[in-house]
Amino acid sequence: MDQAERPPLPEAVEPETASNNPQETEREPALGRFSRRAFLAQLGATGVVATAGTLQAAAQSPEKAEEASDEPGAIPVTLLVNGREYPLKLEPRVTLLDALRERLHLFGTKKGCDHGQCGACTVHVNGRRVNSCLSFAVMHQGDKITTIEGLAQHGELSVMQQAFLVNDGFQCGYCTPGQIMSATALVTEPVGPEDDDVRAAMSGNICRCGAYDNIVTAVQEARKGSKAAS
Ligand code: FES
Ligand code: FES
Repeated sequence: MDQAERPPLPEAVEPETASNNPQETEREPALGRFSRRAFLAQLGATGVVATAGTLQAAAQSPEKAEEASDEPGAIPVTLLVNGREYPLKLEPRVTLLDALRERLHLFGTKKGCDHGQCGACTVHVNGRRVNSCLSFAVMHQGDKITTIEGLAQHGELSVMQQAFLVNDGFQCGYCTPGQIMSATALVTEPVGPEDDDVRAAMSGNICRCGAYDNIVTAVQEARKGSKAAS
């Protein structure tokens, strides 16, 4: 895992000599009040939000993105990502995924298989979901690209992000940005109402942790919320 995309460490907890909770003391004495469940929830939430502190701070400024791109054979292209223009010079073989991660430092978009099989790299291009590992960045001049960092608005998680958080739609969180981007696009697609319809529509997004049941619950809840709001 890249240094910059590591989730923040949990807040330091003073070592406890005694806990008020006998179960906790018995099972997890070394962890004190910071239980395993709380720790995992924090890791997962980092995957869901993917916009917090370090990731946002790491996002490249348009000027720096241009400075960093001077490889031989590079051609100029301006990418419009999350409402911001990034003038770049890129070799034609650079994938959209690598441009987002290596040039713009938007590490929320994950590299899993790099072969179009896992969906970890899913982003939106003009509102439609795309595996960014299978698309060349130079093909996207003028396209409107949205990554997981662009879903939250004014510090508010999107309906789908909140649904994943509330329904524990993740474990390690690695696939989560791709799952959320796919699920967000799915809401506007002609997908049937049943859980199996959602499973089929999300079948391009693999979760190694097997959090599928909760993912489907989250997607269905968000779909209902979106309908109610419209
Ligand atoms: Fe793109 Fe797996 S990294 S589909
Ligand atoms: Fe771990 Fe999906 S939550 S891979």
